[in-house]
Amino acid sequence: MSLPTRKIGKDDVPYPGLGTMGMSAFYDGAGKTESNLAVLKAAYDTGCRFWDTADIYGNNHMGENEQLLAKAFKEGGVKREDIFLATKFGNYRGPDGFRIVGTPEYVASAIDKSLADLQLPFVDLYYQHRVDKNTPIEETVGAMLKLKEAGKIRYIGLSECSEATLRRASKVAKIDAVQIEYSLWETSIETNGILDACKELGITIVAYSPLGRGMLTGAIKSRADLSPTDFRYHAPRFSEENFPKNLELVEKIKAFAAKKGCTAAQLALAWVHAQWEGIIAIPGTTRLEGLKENLGSVNVKLTAEELKEIRALLDSFVVGGERYPAFAMAALDT
Ligand SMILES: NC(=O)c1ccc[n+]([C@@H]2O[C@H](COP(=O)([O-])OP(=O)(O)OC[C@H]3O[C@@H](n4cnc5c(N)ncnc54)[C@H](OP(=O)(O)O)[C@@H]3O)[C@@H](O)[C@H]2O)c1
Repeated sequence: MSLPTRKIGKDDVPYPGLGTMGMSAFYDGAGKTESNLAVLKAAYDTGCRFWDTADIYGNNHMGENEQLLAKAFKEGGVKREDIFLATKFGNYRGPDGFRIVGTPEYVASAIDKSLADLQLPFVDLYYQHRVDKNTPIEETVGAMLKLKEAGKIRYIGLSECSEATLRRASKVAKIDAVQIEYSLWETSIETNGILDACKELGITIVAYSPLGRGMLTGAIKSRADLSPTDFRYHAPRFSEENFPKNLELVEKIKAFAAKKGCTAAQLALAWVHAQWEGIIAIPGTTRLEGLKENLGSVNVKLTAEELKEIRALLDSFVVGGERYPAFAMAALDT
């Protein structure tokens, strides 16, 4: 199967991509190495070759998910040179706790740790995962530019940055991608200046959690489907109070998808990709069926009339709850 492509920098990148976070962290079912390798191989074989990881993705230790990808390259039948590979730094977790760090010294050490875990000489795209409020963005991006000059990364990205930070960063180096949450239940980039700034500056938007962390697929029917160790169990949109309310939106999306002859997940991905040709969604899945279904979203073409109807549906609904628990919301660059 050949997937359509969109640009990141000068590269033609197939979409949708694959988020590999849930294979190693945060969601129920993480850590099943053999089945994860099977999904990675199936993604490779079906042309889904834009993969997204981060050094922080690992329930057991930092670098766990990057090490899984290294295994896919070494013994999982995946040729690294066929993958457009993105990783991220900036969320540090160790024996001394968690912090967001973007000092030039840390940037230099973080890429070396990621490359060692991936067993690779370079990655295609390197993002700052979260903006470090104690380090001027010019210093962080200046350090990333040095990595580019040294051949350790090909493109520079920021994740969860504000418009102001993005504009400052863009004066130091070419920013090629902004990774940010964007989906049927999270449209704030349309009003906070990020979408417009990316259009103006020629920056690809990499839409993360495009399935609303699984909620928009309709597969999560109640809070009882999540264990207390799953990140979502503690996320405001999945709370006792908000879950039933947000399920009403999901039911409407499911009904629309049924009318269109696709699944809710496919509708959610087709909608994201229909918003601008500079957007690539990176849904995450740990299942072969999920992968196949998500890739099938490229065959769902939404008409102008359907997009209008979906927009009216979104405008009529107030999503319950913030994207993250309060401590994580407070850490965001706004
Ligand atoms: N930059 C950041 O701060 C940030 C934050 C979060 C995520 N990300 C990136 O974005 C990627 C995707 O985000 P995400 O994983 O949070 O959320 P997502 O892609 O919106 O949803 C993933 C969830 O949906 C389920 N799912 C996937 N396809 C499905 C389908 N067709 N039908 C039913 N369920 C389906 C998955 O479960 P199954 O495994 O059971 O399919 C998983 O629980 C991550 O892997 C990560 O790379 C980045």
